[in-house]
Amino acid sequence: MRILVTGAGGQLGCELVAILREDDVHAFDHRTLDITNEAAVVATVRQIRPECIINAAAFNDVDGAETAEQAAFTANAQGPANLARAAAGIDAALIHVSTDYVFDGRKGTAYTEDDVPNPLSVYGRSEYEGERRVLESKARVCVLRTAWLYGRHGKNFVKAIRDAAGKGRPLRVVADQVGSPTAVADFAEAIARLMQTPARGLFHVVNAGACSRQEFAKAIVRGRSRWFLSPAPRLAGRRAGRRTAH
Ligand SMILES: NC(=O)c1ccc[n+]([C@@H]2O[C@H](COP(=O)([O-])OP(=O)(O)OC[C@H]3O[C@@H](n4cnc5c(N)ncnc54)[C@H](OP(=O)(O)O)[C@@H]3O)[C@@H](O)[C@H]2O)c1
Repeated sequence: MRILVTGAGGQLGCELVAILREDDVHAFDHRTLDITNEAAVVATVRQIRPECIINAAAFNDVDGAETAEQAAFTANAQGPANLARAAAGIDAALIHVSTDYVFDGRKGTAYTEDDVPNPLSVYGRSEYEGERRVLESKARVCVLRTAWLYGRHGKNFVKAIRDAAGKGRPLRVVADQVGSPTAVADFAEAIARLMQTPARGLFHVVNAGACSRQEFAKAIVRGRSRWFLSPAPRLAGRRAGRRTAH
């Protein structure tokens, strides 16, 4: 399948490019395709004519977004809207990734797709607006909400805790945030499988189980970070395919 990946330099983007190596993948990082540049998005999509676009690009700095509201909304709402418009123009499918930050965390149990979002942060509001804009577009869209991604590439909680613990200082980690840590390799694999189906709409995609940030940190410090960050073994030996980096 011919696939265009945006945000290919990030944690998820890198994993997607690795997992989809049997496909004809055209991978764009922030430098080579800024999704907020509508003209560039339309021209690139028209040139490549992908069957599927996967948007792994986002303004992902939750704290930083509080003082950079416009930048967060431009990247997380306007950018996905540009991709949806371009996808609709060539009848490509669009898989757009969103976040559990669209919820306020007051439910006390796991959120489902039927729960009504109530984002509390600028980041959460910008992602919710991105969801709304792609779901209301004319494109064939899947919005996948995920949470607490960690993997080999980029920055994540596992690496931050492991590095802090390595410095030998006591760690202070909150116990009142609960979520589902999700291996980015598993999430990318789920995207690869979903692409083969006609599924459309909104889906929650996380690894099974839940824990607090503190419980997660304790597991990481107990020495399991090597396992957390190891490549997915089931991918070994897959046939190499075409990949085009831009
Ligand atoms: N990480 C998590 O725990 C988590 C949890 C829930 C949902 N998500 C969602 O999962 C998706 C992937 O997250 P991730 O962890 O892979 O994030 P990431 O590592 O921060 O990757 C995001 C990438 O998007 C790029 N980017 C930012 N603005 C862009 C723009 N205007 N045009 C093109 N590229 C742009 C960034 O490049 P620069 O760094 O050069 O700006 C970065 O390489 C995002 O939608 C995120 O909201 C992540």
